Amino acid sequence: MKRFLNKIDLSQHIDALKSKGNSIGFVPTMGALHEGHVSLVTKGLNENDFVVVSIFVNPTQFDNPEDLVKYPRSVAADIALLSNVSDAHILVYTPSVEDIYGDQAVSQSFNFDGLEHEMEGAFRKGHFDGVGTIVKRLFEIVKPDRAYFGEKDFQQLQIINKLVELHHMPVEVIGCVIHRSEDGLAMSSRNARLTPEHRTIAPFIYKTINTAKVRFGTESAQIVTEWVNEQFKKESLLELEYFIIADETTLKPVKEKSTEKTYRAFIAVYAGDIRLIDNIALN
Ligand code: PAJ
Repeated sequence: MKRFLNKIDLSQHIDALKSKGNSIGFVPTMGALHEGHVSLVTKGLNENDFVVVSIFVNPTQFDNPEDLVKYPRSVAADIALLSNVSDAHILVYTPSVEDIYGDQAVSQSFNFDGLEHEMEGAFRKGHFDGVGTIVKRLFEIVKPDRAYFGEKDFQQLQIINKLVELHHMPVEVIGCVIHRSEDGLAMSSRNARLTPEHRTIAPFIYKTINTAKVRFGTESAQIVTEWVNEQFKKESLLELEYFIIADETTLKPVKEKSTEKTYRAFIAVYAGDIRLIDNIALN
């Protein structure tokens, strides 16, 4: 499998592939790859001639310096996993911070029509400026035909859609369903850092939002939200940061249910010092 350490070599290789009529899919990641990432890569391979996978722990999107230091890194295992998926049609890009940012790793400031102020944006200051900065830069380097993002980070997916729209970027953004462990826990690189005790209790998150979905069929958003808050109060190993039912397009919290709108429930939970997020479509 071809691995590229710098953007110039990667762009030259991609330009050569494109000049021969090949289409390029792109899956940006921060590594510590799991089956959720693989599902994006597989979809990309089905829809394009080649798939570029970037592995880069982007410093500018971390609001918590300790989280950045502790973020799992396993490039050798990631490359082994990807070569099992396709040795010939995947290109891996593992840049250094300097290759991406030069000598100043700072974010650009974005306006995503207010999407950036909700949920993750409210609880992780500057996070989406960091995500917007890196994804825009990666799109400029890779120039993909299609880029794949997981609904696991649904707000991020909507922000990337907005980034592409506002900056007129010639890339099709494709959302991919959430890949879960058998017990329902959404796969995440951070799961590897859970203690055995926290890993055992973590499926409670999905179980609860699943029941919230059923309740939302007959109850108001407020009643469902109160119910979820009560469930987490009974679970001492997990600390609820937020549970919000929002309009899927604007990401604004629902005030009054309307049959014309599509809603999604979003949740962030601490299991010890590991922060987990999940979400579920409600209608
Ligand atoms: P990372 O957390 O590594 O995720 C890379 C991509 O994989 C994202 O689009 C994410 O939504 C998707 N993904 C993660 N877990 C998934 C799961 N269980 N099911 C389906 N898709 C899943 O998201 C990032 O990295 C970064 O913010 C990035 C976009 C790379 C910018 O730095």
